Amino acid sequence: MYPNIIITGTPGVGKTWISMRLAKLFGLKYVSINNIILSAGLYVSYDEPRGSFVVDIDNARRYLVKNLDWDGLVLDGHITHLVVFPDYIDKCLVLRLNPYILYDRLLERGYSVDKVLENVQAEILDVIYAEALDRLGSEKVLSVDVSNGYGKVYGIVASLLGKGSPPEGDQVNWLDLVVEKGDLSRFFP
Ligand SMILES: Nc1ncnc2c1ncn2[C@@H]1O[C@H](COP(=O)(O)OP(=O)(O)OP(=O)(O)O)[C@@H](O)[C@H]1O
Ligand SMILES: [Mg+2]
Repeated sequence: MYPNIIITGTPGVGKTWISMRLAKLFGLKYVSINNIILSAGLYVSYDEPRGSFVVDIDNARRYLVKNLDWDGLVLDGHITHLVVFPDYIDKCLVLRLNPYILYDRLLERGYSVDKVLENVQAEILDVIYAEALDRLGSEKVLSVDVSNGYGKVYGIVASLLGKGSPPEGDQVNWLDLVVEKGDLSRFFP
């Protein structure tokens, strides 16, 4: 059996980019949870102001258990940690990105300032990391700071495949960083 790995994190941190590369490099299977939810209609409604679908979590869980071959999956998506059964997962990597970098990246994507701020605030407040810990537990969840590149993510996946030493997570504290720079009101206007 190969490990099943979640790549989650705030929108824009680079989940899709790195997940596809990981799958290719390590011979794992790339799975876009967002694409499955859309194509299989696993949502209850469309949130117009947010421009996003409201996922039918229970249905999505059942669908994923039944329809995926749980042997060597790289599961990409910012709600993946909420829609999989913990028992099926070996590790959940929460990608963390410096909020200043994330802000610029999301603006470049063409998001409105409101949508950029909503996501940057979530990153500063560790929302996804806290959700993942809550649902999957500290044994399975690793926070990985990708602000200076994605090298560490490759190392962690290699170690999960039995190559190299066991993974260690990164401690990030974006809130302190933002407060130190005097930018709290910039990100929380
Ligand atoms: N290593 C990188 N260096 C520079 N830019 C990058 C890097 N990785 C990703 N990006 C850019 O960051 C943006 C976000 O990447 P990506 O789409 O992988 O994020 P995501 O976490 O999957 O976001 P979403 O949750 O919205 O799907 C992309 O526009 C991509 O070009
Ligand atoms: Mg993506």
